[in-house]
Amino acid sequence: MQALRIISEDHSNLWRLTTTIDHVADEIEEGAPVDPRFFNSVFDYLEHFVDRAHHPKEDDYLFRIMRERSVKAAEILDPLQRDHRNGPDQLSTLRALMIEASRHAERRAEFLKSLRLFTMGQKAHISAEERYAMPLAREVLHETDWAEIDAAFLDREDPLFGDQAKAEFAELFHRIASLAPASVGLGGQTAGALVAATTTANAEPLLRVRNLESWYGRIQALKGIDIEVRRGETVALVGANGAGKTTFMRTLSGVQPMRAGSIEFDGMDISKLRSDMRMRRGICQSPEGRQVFGPLSIEDNLRLGAYTQPRQQVEGDMEKIFAMFPILKEKRNLPAGTLSGGQQQMLAIGRALMGRPKLLLLDEPSMGLAPLLVQEVFNVVKSLKAQGMTILLVEQNAMAALAIADRGYVLETGSVTLTGSGQDLINNEQVRAAYLGM
Ligand SMILES: Nc1ncnc2c1ncn2[C@@H]1O[C@H](COP(=O)(O)OP(=O)(O)O)[C@@H](O)[C@H]1O
Ligand SMILES: [Mg+2]
Repeated sequence: MQALRIISEDHSNLWRLTTTIDHVADEIEEGAPVDPRFFNSVFDYLEHFVDRAHHPKEDDYLFRIMRERSVKAAEILDPLQRDHRNGPDQLSTLRALMIEASRHAERRAEFLKSLRLFTMGQKAHISAEERYAMPLAREVLHETDWAEIDAAFLDREDPLFGDQAKAEFAELFHRIASLAPASVGLGGQTAGALVAATTTANAEPLLRVRNLESWYGRIQALKGIDIEVRRGETVALVGANGAGKTTFMRTLSGVQPMRAGSIEFDGMDISKLRSDMRMRRGICQSPEGRQVFGPLSIEDNLRLGAYTQPRQQVEGDMEKIFAMFPILKEKRNLPAGTLSGGQQQMLAIGRALMGRPKLLLLDEPSMGLAPLLVQEVFNVVKSLKAQGMTILLVEQNAMAALAIADRGYVLETGSVTLTGSGQDLINNEQVRAAYLGM
């Protein structure tokens, strides 16, 4: 039933996107201009992703086989597939209305009305599919049906849904997040590319933590943790609020004392090293709550991330960060405090990258961000992973973190209770019940 998981992920992305459209519609109602670049990128995404990939997969495999297996299917699927067929026309109508509205203020009301109808329709469609179609699929499809459907959904070479198509969707989504107003997106003027180059992970451990304990006075926050991160891996550490995730990250970077255990990093026991020495050796952290220095400029914040690095490389490294986050380049001389939450998160990640990490520690990078940006932050993590960065990612947003992780650990009140591949943990009943709200 991998296909259902993939469809649900698509749905949550689409839900985020429609929520963003509604928010932008509110702003237009209050007098903001209609930005054709933003809306065109939204419509491009919907056209490419929904009409060319998401719907055809459902129509050609899942829905087709459901109809063969159950007489009840038609009643549920007919209206859904009617929506699928109407999608392209609806989008081209919206595009035309949007162009008119961007040129003539008096045409805005008409555009907004159609836009609201569109987002309501999208949400109704997603809800109906999740509430009626998916349970029916679980009920009536056989194991051999799932084998066929899952194979189609998981085919990485597929021109519609494979890796290359996914990279294009991620890029389009990134454009939307960049072009959206700062209240819901990154609010930049340029929509630069996220660079992605693939390297393969090799199996040698970079970080090996054994029996790590840490205490706050008489309260034991970490009760003997064993965790390994191999070179090139993305490892997710997930768990509820208060589980000890932040304490673990701070113990690794050396700002939180450990009472027992050992930390081996890059072939050396670093348990006794000061935090700045650990940073020099390549452990760089983007802390929980971002913690950028508000009064300092963006550039100076980035320079702080490089204070353990030789001077002559700093300017060059900063240009690399700016290429990755063009929004920061545009605002390089402004105080960091003027940035939106999403922009500050990019700055916090950029600052950690300035230390040329061998291991990048990310503590809840999606915390407190607008829904559109949650996906954007995970896209950034994915693209760093694709460039070969080794990443330890801490998240309460377990589903999203495990989906991009090679492996994961579940932390509960200071102990690791489960470990496995990201995919195994997503499929684990215990994990689903506890962290995914399913
Ligand atoms: N500065 C502190 N003083 C005392 N207890 C703390 C402190 N910081 C965290 N704790 C406790 O340690 C446990 C783990 O917290 P934390 O590492 O922040 O969890 P998480 O990041 O998973 O939400 C919690 O029970 C929390 O109350
Ligand atoms: Mg925390």
